[in-house]
Amino acid sequence: MPQQPRPTPEPSLRRIHTFTDSEHFARQLARALGEAVTRIAEHRFPDGETLLRVRSPVAPDAILVRSLHDPNSKLVETLLAADALRRAGAQRVTLVAPYLPYMRQDMVFAPGEPVSQLVIANCLGQAFDRIVTVEPHLHRIQQLAEIFPCRATGVSSAPALAHWIQRTGGHPLIVGPDAESEAWVRAIADAAHLPWIVGQKERLSDHAVRIRFPTIPPCTRAILVDDIASSGFTLAVAAQGLLKHGVATVDAVVVHAIFAMGALTHIRAAGIRRIVSGDTIPHPTNAIRLAPLAAAAL
Ligand code: R5P
Repeated sequence: MPQQPRPTPEPSLRRIHTFTDSEHFARQLARALGEAVTRIAEHRFPDGETLLRVRSPVAPDAILVRSLHDPNSKLVETLLAADALRRAGAQRVTLVAPYLPYMRQDMVFAPGEPVSQLVIANCLGQAFDRIVTVEPHLHRIQQLAEIFPCRATGVSSAPALAHWIQRTGGHPLIVGPDAESEAWVRAIADAAHLPWIVGQKERLSDHAVRIRFPTIPPCTRAILVDDIASSGFTLAVAAQGLLKHGVATVDAVVVHAIFAMGALTHIRAAGIRRIVSGDTIPHPTNAIRLAPLAAAAL
């Protein structure tokens, strides 16, 4: 019997590309979406410039996964990657940036400063067709759509954090360090059916904050939640305040584990028992998978 020719497989319409430093998140995302993931080759010239090469096949719908902590050189490489993917055949390029930097400078705080948030949103929004990120730090604006010239989605980490907190058991008090985190803290606490409070934070410098809490309801355990831990001083000062007011145990959950030099030392010295983070930035404290939330948004 003559053999039937095998049907040629349909080329996949979507493919995920990533850099070495974001491979963990990219693989989690690829697993959730059932897609392939390939790495972009990087070469660093002696003068510090980077040459990228997309060696794998490129689908019409390309997704680039790159977490943009330690942002300055990564932002340039990310813009170069968008161009490389289009030249290699992508018709639509989406950036999944698990951590999106420069969102905190959302206004001119002192004369002579830029609005960094808008500069970065414009650059990325012109290079990509769509941006997806996790828990962007938004204060004076409500939605990324207000600042990006392309479609942009900020995924809330609250359901994943609430789930993790519930799994640890007990009836802890959920504590946000500052008033601007109130809606997010309430969303986590409501989803986990737990009480919550937020403090009033005043940032005095990169390495100094003052936090005042309202009356702290009686509790033996508190869980501090914050979107970013950078110098670690917000968590450290908040923990000291809670312990001083008689809370026996303070744990901390953060989304983006930046942890600048020395941050973990300050956090532990302040008496925080356990600290865990989301996996948007690779770090030994990563315990909460957030890629499935980004996959759902895609
Ligand atoms: C700022 O408002 C953020 O929500 C964080 O609280 C802040 O970025 C933490 O920074 P650090 O760890 O340097 O105190």
